[in-house]
Amino acid sequence: MTDISKAGTFQLGDRIVKRIGYGAMQLAGPGVFGPPKDHDQAIAVLQAVVAAGVDHIDTSDYYGPYVTNRLIKEALHPYPADLAIVTKLGAVRGDDASWNPAMSPDDLKRGVEGNLVNLGIEQVFAANLRVMGDGHGPSEGSIAKEFAVLADLQRQGLIKHLGMSNATATQIREAQDIAPVVSVQNLYNVAHREDDALIDSLAEQGVAYVPFFPLGGFSPLQSDTLSRVAASIGATPMQTALAWLLRRSPNILLIPGTSSLAHLEQNLAVAEIELDDTAMAELNAIGNAVPV
Ligand SMILES: NC(=O)c1ccc[n+]([C@@H]2O[C@H](COP(=O)([O-])OP(=O)(O)OC[C@H]3O[C@@H](n4cnc5c(N)ncnc54)[C@H](OP(=O)(O)O)[C@@H]3O)[C@@H](O)[C@H]2O)c1
Repeated sequence: MTDISKAGTFQLGDRIVKRIGYGAMQLAGPGVFGPPKDHDQAIAVLQAVVAAGVDHIDTSDYYGPYVTNRLIKEALHPYPADLAIVTKLGAVRGDDASWNPAMSPDDLKRGVEGNLVNLGIEQVFAANLRVMGDGHGPSEGSIAKEFAVLADLQRQGLIKHLGMSNATATQIREAQDIAPVVSVQNLYNVAHREDDALIDSLAEQGVAYVPFFPLGGFSPLQSDTLSRVAASIGATPMQTALAWLLRRSPNILLIPGTSSLAHLEQNLAVAEIELDDTAMAELNAIGNAVPV
């Protein structure tokens, strides 16, 4: 079994977590809606995640909705003391599987309560305010009122740490003026590098950066350069994309999503991969070449 601690650790709130974590979104049904295709396999994946030493799982009550949190509870409760389960607040799903903003004070409070019940916990370890913006990428606009509501729920003891997701640098600074932000979760991978400067700035502040879609999400990464470098080091393109993230900045925490035990094993094995400077330079050029 891979020793994932070889990939190192980083501070996440009051914990030091391993840099290889797991994203639970892929465990819900197609379109992140409804139950998993294979319930037993989903449970087996979650148990394998923790058995491998992963101590950071990303989830949300709106995956399914409620599906991934309930699977996590079924598979892992009572939780290992060192397991950091991070959730997101700010959206709900429509009956038609749509993703809708839910950012009013009542929505956010209900969101926390739903996570507590479905995960079977008394306090959420960390909750990201998932800024819905235009629904796709980050877009500017004040999030002060919404983040203040989360800060209040934190003071009430329902949430331990706060983070931001799908957020601009300005929104993150706005949030930091209200309460400490322990992590930022935005779209970033070897081909989508809009957050390069933000990552460096957060690294200087000791704030974790947790890229979503590290493998391209619903549009898996495809690049001749990625495939060529992968072949040269005897890894798969997806492993190479994760290894690039690990080397990109020490504050990057990985949460690749998979519903497959075989893919999980490959993703954990990335802890053993060290990219040299030549490979990094080649991979860096992918982001420069791809229009974003
Ligand atoms: N904050 C946000 O707005 C936001 C948005 C999206 C996601 N997230 C979080 O970020 C996590 C990661 O993102 P993601 O799961 O959407 O996308 P991802 O990790 O970029 O990619 C997942 C896709 O890659 C496949 N895959 C995983 N490992 C693989 C491997 N070793 N080889 C080949 N294919 C592989 C998966 O299919 P298989 O299941 O077949 O392996 C799935 O189709 C999510 O699970 C979720 O927790 C957050």
